[in-house]
Amino acid sequence: MMLVPAGDPVDAVIDNLLPMLEEGDLLIDGGNSHFVDTDRRAKQLRERGLAYLGVGVSGGAEGARRGPSLMPGGPRSAYDRVQGILEGAAAKVNGDPCVAYLGPGSAGHYVKMVHNGIEYGLMQLIAEVYDLMKRGLGMGTAARAEVFEEWSQGLLSGFLMEITAEILAYKEQGASEPLVERILDAAEQKGTGRWTSQSAMDLGVPIPTMDVAVAMRNLSALKGARGRMSERYEGETPCIPGERDPDLAKLRGALYACMILTYAQGMDLLGVAAGEHGYGLDLETVARIWRGGCIIRSALLEPIRSAYQRRPDLDHLLLDPGLASVVRAHLGDVRSVVAGAASTGIPAPAMMASLSYLDSFRSDRLPANLIQAQRDYFGAHTYERVDKSGTFHTEWREH
Ligand code: 6PG
Repeated sequence: MMLVPAGDPVDAVIDNLLPMLEEGDLLIDGGNSHFVDTDRRAKQLRERGLAYLGVGVSGGAEGARRGPSLMPGGPRSAYDRVQGILEGAAAKVNGDPCVAYLGPGSAGHYVKMVHNGIEYGLMQLIAEVYDLMKRGLGMGTAARAEVFEEWSQGLLSGFLMEITAEILAYKEQGASEPLVERILDAAEQKGTGRWTSQSAMDLGVPIPTMDVAVAMRNLSALKGARGRMSERYEGETPCIPGERDPDLAKLRGALYACMILTYAQGMDLLGVAAGEHGYGLDLETVARIWRGGCIIRSALLEPIRSAYQRRPDLDHLLLDPGLASVVRAHLGDVRSVVAGAASTGIPAPAMMASLSYLDSFRSDRLPANLIQAQRDYFGAHTYERVDKSGTFHTEWREH
């Protein structure tokens, strides 16, 4: 089982191993490989009589010690050979191992990629809330640590919330302020979030919260340009603290709803990819093995799992009556936070994208009719009508 950085190193290790492998051997890639590479490698090894599994592994150092979430894909027969080992190694939730056979080919690495896309979305949402608490409510890092600590115990509980509380409370010996405030505000990325957005674009699946999370990593890295923009546009809005307690309750509700919207976008992408790539994914199984060991594990995955358990053919997670009522209950919070952020100039792009996603999705009629008319005007691309069937073109200038 290889656990090496994605890309060329995987091919290099395979090349090194090949002379030592015999027909019938099984090679496992446990890194964050791009799913297209996994398909290519599986084919290359199959031609030599070797079995290949692409296994997404999530959990970082903590997962390595206490058990990760494992997302295996490839030939079922190959999985059967290592099922016991993987189940033994995986994290357990109420005794249930966080691993299951997901599907053929690159199914495992695809699921891991989308896991990371969701990870990007959740991290960006949490970062925005951390910023809104400071710039909008005038809260110091210690006060924010306390709030995250409290929130990470309840409905919002999950790995990323827990580590955020710990990070905000961490001080170096003798330091006056928490370490996080001394960390350069330029986020890096290894590519899995970007791949998720690219694949979603290819498949025509909207995942705007994740797209914006990738864009914000890119924007954060433009540190020099941001400095110049900040001078030109007087970037830092002075903090006008609002009413702390009611606003904190709204922030909490908004974060909760936006997290649901993020998982829902990821599940939607998985559902479409399952059909397009022939993975035959069972989304209940995916939610089940994400409940423990991985970076996006959270209390929310239990109701998400139940939604698919009740309706395996659920068209979209947001149509589940239970989750829909939770989102509806907190929609006012999201609106209020987004409106406050927009009017004070505090960036909250992932929250805004999440809200617009839902507002667009629940619009029976969108302005796409105008886009169709424009396309037909300048390129004779034709359009369909709501009052009669067929395909139409208009010579717009004649009128
Ligand atoms: C996990 C993580 C892990 C890795 C990320 C980091 O599930 O354990 O996702 O795979 O830490 O890929 O990704 P970025 O470098 O792109 O932030």
